[in-house]
Amino acid sequence: MPSLTARISLNKAGNKSFPPRRIVLGVTGSIAAYKAPEIVRGLVKMGFETRCVLTPKAKEFTTSLTLATLSHYPPVENENESRLWEMAHLSLASWAPVLLIAPATADFIAKLAAGFGDNLLLALALAFKGKIIVCPAMDGGMWEHPATKRNVETIRQFGYEIWGPETGELASGKIGSGRMVEPQTMFERIKSLWSVEKIRTRKAR
Ligand SMILES: Cc1cc2nc3c(=O)[nH]c(=O)nc-3n(C[C@H](O)[C@H](O)[C@H](O)COP(=O)(O)O)c2cc1C
Repeated sequence: MPSLTARISLNKAGNKSFPPRRIVLGVTGSIAAYKAPEIVRGLVKMGFETRCVLTPKAKEFTTSLTLATLSHYPPVENENESRLWEMAHLSLASWAPVLLIAPATADFIAKLAAGFGDNLLLALALAFKGKIIVCPAMDGGMWEHPATKRNVETIRQFGYEIWGPETGELASGKIGSGRMVEPQTMFERIKSLWSVEKIRTRKAR
């Protein structure tokens, strides 16, 4: 998996002197997808151009209209248009240095681990040239299941970063592990990711 710095040379459209402030946000069908607009809003406020890619199930938990309004760009979501498949593979895969998948369901993580490509976000993850960050969000039982543990370990070995989950109140009202890392924590980590890369890029000159 190339580092952000390495990705600079891969991103032809980006600013060569620095990893471009671009992020692709992948949203999957977790109840935590209601926080996707907050993530987009925060990223845009931080100066990131943001593109959203939704799984078919994600659309039941958040709306394209909200994400389009906040990101100033329509989400990629229509599975049946060849133009969009082309976009996912040829453009978005090398458009941004980071693909942030938040929230990531147990189902989606299993498919990532198995190498499935049967929706646009999965296909994008397979084709993506930069860093992939996965923020799991699920019920405590799902998170603790050995299958999920194995799948998370598998994608970690692919070089994907796993942020969270946190322990706290879950959608069920129970306290447990599986709560998506808070958007504010994502923003802090993204900020430091870019500043570390800035320092590295400067030293490399
Ligand atoms: C109300 C509701 C909430 C759900 N929340 C979660 C969740 O937080 N995490 C999870 O892993 N699955 C959750 N699911 C199950 C997923 O939606 C389901 O596994 C789906 O196939 C995920 O599709 P995707 O990963 O392609 O987006 C929920 C389902 C429903 C009906």
